[in-house]
Amino acid sequence: MQYYHNKTILVTGASSGIGIAFCRQVASYGADLVITARRKDRLDALAKELRSQYDCEVSVIPADLSDPDGPASLIREVEKKNHHIDVLVNNAGFGYNGAFIDGDFEMYQHMMQVNVHSLILLTRLLVPGMVGRGQGGVLNVASMAGFLPVPYFSVYSATKQFVINFSWSLWKELEDTGVHISSLCPGPVNTQFFDVAGADIRKAAFRGLQSPEAVALKGLTGLAENIPMKFSRSLLRISYLLSKWVPVRVGMLIGGMVMRK
Ligand SMILES: NC(=O)c1ccc[n+]([C@@H]2O[C@H](COP(=O)([O-])OP(=O)(O)OC[C@H]3O[C@@H](n4cnc5c(N)ncnc54)[C@H](OP(=O)(O)O)[C@@H]3O)[C@@H](O)[C@H]2O)c1
Repeated sequence: MQYYHNKTILVTGASSGIGIAFCRQVASYGADLVITARRKDRLDALAKELRSQYDCEVSVIPADLSDPDGPASLIREVEKKNHHIDVLVNNAGFGYNGAFIDGDFEMYQHMMQVNVHSLILLTRLLVPGMVGRGQGGVLNVASMAGFLPVPYFSVYSATKQFVINFSWSLWKELEDTGVHISSLCPGPVNTQFFDVAGADIRKAAFRGLQSPEAVALKGLTGLAENIPMKFSRSLLRISYLLSKWVPVRVGMLIGGMVMRK
């Protein structure tokens, strides 16, 4: 995909799942990478693989995005290493499946920090440079869980609703600047996400799991084409359109039934 050729891409959540798939794909399109997550050993292994397989530069900068200072210190490192980020992929995120009152508040704070605050802050820190250069892009990984409220997935679904709305607004604000904005909405994907969330993968993925590679490809295509909201499969577009028409009380019944433990 020409859009990524000779660009430098910052991918958060690059140690696992969809993040790894983003990195492999953009490297195959001729991009250089800055990769981040907490697990440095996994990032180092991915960097080694990408450097040996593709003619690309890969910089590893570990960061904890649940730390309020995480995004700013990540960008300080990026600047120290003289990287100019052309494309930001805000992919890091996690969920918690369970009754709201059973969840630990510190865990919710971390979730909001990673899924929302860090995404906003990284975007705020990097987009002005992109606007100044008249090119660039931000790909925000949202979820079908953001289409409607999802009982037993309450904080997670609210964070992903935020990501969808924020991405639409920013896409509109930046439409004449040359900077692309897109949110990617996957359904269930075959990654560690369900283990981390404590969710039953067989229940949550009753319609089947998508591969991280297929999902990443949809996201990268959506950003290259500046599509504000990209669905990882066409059935999700229909679910999204339905979610706008059916009353919320009805729409969220299915999600609640699926996520109830
Ligand atoms: N899998 C699905 O069914 C699904 C569906 C819709 C949307 N999504 C979204 O897709 C994105 C990627 O998830 P995935 O499915 O690939 O799950 P995953 O395999 O669990 O990967 C999550 C990534 O986020 C990073 N991360 C988590 N907490 C972090 C923190 N505090 N600081 C920095 N990085 C952190 C993890 O890295 P470290 O642990 O090394 O820090 C990991 O690289 C998420 O935003 C998720 O919400 C997933």
